[in-house]
Amino acid sequence: MNILVTYFSQTGNTKKIAEAIYENLPKEKTLKPVDEVKELDDYEIIFIGFPVHSHSVPYKIESLLNRIPKGKQIALFSTHGSLTGCRLSREALEHAVATAAKAKVLGTFCCRGKVSHAGMEALGRSPEHQAWIEMAASAQMHPNQADLQEAGHFARWVLTLSTHHKR
Ligand SMILES: Cc1cc2nc3c(=O)[nH]c(=O)nc-3n(C[C@H](O)[C@H](O)[C@H](O)COP(=O)(O)O)c2cc1C
Repeated sequence: MNILVTYFSQTGNTKKIAEAIYENLPKEKTLKPVDEVKELDDYEIIFIGFPVHSHSVPYKIESLLNRIPKGKQIALFSTHGSLTGCRLSREALEHAVATAAKAKVLGTFCCRGKVSHAGMEALGRSPEHQAWIEMAASAQMHPNQADLQEAGHFARWVLTLSTHHKR
C-alpha cells in the first residue's frame, strides 16, 4: 500500500518540507503537488501540506480535505511566516483538522517559511495581513536544516501511529 505526500506551495517552502517527509518514509510512496492528485483510495496514509494564507487553508487544499474518504489516515503540515506556537500559526492547522473531520488525523506539523521581500511589501499594504507580516521578517532563514530534520522525525513518528506500522 502506498503513502502519498501531497502539497500546495507557491514559493517552495512547503515543497521542501514535503520532500523531507517523503525522504523519511518507507519504499512504497508517492510525492505529488495537489493539482496532480486524483484517486485517494489508492493510498493508506496521506500527508497533506500547505502554506498558511490569510490565517487559513488555501482553497486547493481545503477542497482536497473535503474529499478525504471517511476513516482515511492523514497527517497535516503547514509553513507560515508568523512565529511558531502563536495563535495565528495554529489557527489554520486547526481549521484543516476540523475540515477533515471524517478522516483519522494522525498528527500535525508546522514550521516557519520565508516570505519574499516583494511579498512582504505587497502584503504589508493590506490591513488584513498586518497581524502576521511584522513577525514574518524573522522567518527569512526558514525552512532551515533543523526544520527539515524535524519534518523527517514527524514523518517517522506518524508512521508509528499508523496501521501501516502495526501490520
Ligand atoms: C497571499 C499570502 C498570504 C499569507 N498569509 C499568511 C498568514 O496569514 N499567516 C502567516 O503566518 N503567513 C502567511 N503567509 C506566509 C506564508 O504562509 C509563508 O511564507 C509560507 O512558508 C509560504 O509557503 P510556500 O513557499 O510553500 O508557498 C502568506 C503568504 C502569502 C503569499
